[in-house]
Amino acid sequence: MVIVTSLKNSSKLAKKIAKEIQAPFSQTYVSEFPDGDMYLRFKTDVKGKKVIIVESFQPNSNEVLLNIIFAAQAAKKQGAKKVIVIAPYLAFMRQDKMFNSGEAINAQIMSKLLNENIDKLLTVDPHLHRIEKMKDVFSIPAKNLTSNDVIANFIQKKFKKNVAIVGPDWESYQWADKISAAIGVEDTVLEKTRNSTRNVDVKVTKEIDLKDKHVVIVDDIISTGNTMIKAAKQSKQRGAKTVTAIGVHGLFVENALNKMSKYFDNIYTVNTIEHETNKIDITPAIVEEISKKL
Ligand code: R5P
Repeated sequence: MVIVTSLKNSSKLAKKIAKEIQAPFSQTYVSEFPDGDMYLRFKTDVKGKKVIIVESFQPNSNEVLLNIIFAAQAAKKQGAKKVIVIAPYLAFMRQDKMFNSGEAINAQIMSKLLNENIDKLLTVDPHLHRIEKMKDVFSIPAKNLTSNDVIANFIQKKFKKNVAIVGPDWESYQWADKISAAIGVEDTVLEKTRNSTRNVDVKVTKEIDLKDKHVVIVDDIISTGNTMIKAAKQSKQRGAKTVTAIGVHGLFVENALNKMSKYFDNIYTVNTIEHETNKIDITPAIVEEISKKL
């Protein structure tokens, strides 16, 4: 038997998934003792069950990682047969090497902790860059789904014609190329220079016709929004009719949504992180995957 739970961040998505796979949903209680130590309690009997924890790594990624480890160990201790984590947004993947001496390599530490504590991981569009495949860091079954299809469908419904796709940096070809091919429109992927965590420059290396087009800029992560804003400026300069931002994972830190709103006609995200911009639903892809393999 399967039960679906969530910790602090993803109860909406967890409930949807539970309903679709016709499994009971039970919210796990996560709180703190007066001194700040974690308190976690399952409100259902997990003995002999496959426990699916649906939990996005935003907000509060550091805390989420610890919550997942505590939940997994507690579930196993109480006799759970398997612990499967569905982390629609998996954090820590951007620090995938030591950029400066002395730094922790977050992706390796996070994956080691998950390898040691859970049985299976499912995520959506993880930030794969220098780590090319999930199996480079995960020894447990770790599957990544993509939201390319749902994003392509969404764009097609929203704009009937005159669409062009822009990827704001080299790595975004993974979304821009696939989505533009699915819709049958042109795309260009910009070149980004990151001067600091909050300062980027982008330049167009392959010119395509953006004049009077509905330009849709797609990226995996919207964090400070600065990458998107720079790409929007380039698109406007080239005569875009409207500029839309689509992010798979909308982190929107440091007032990003407000900052972005004056450069964009529309800002949409996939519902991997609960946010008001969630207009693209990834539930069907998750349900299809877990229905195959449960
Ligand atoms: C990094 O390479 C990602 O693909 C995103 O482009 C990046 O995380 C966006 O960050 P920000 O919104 O802070 O510019």
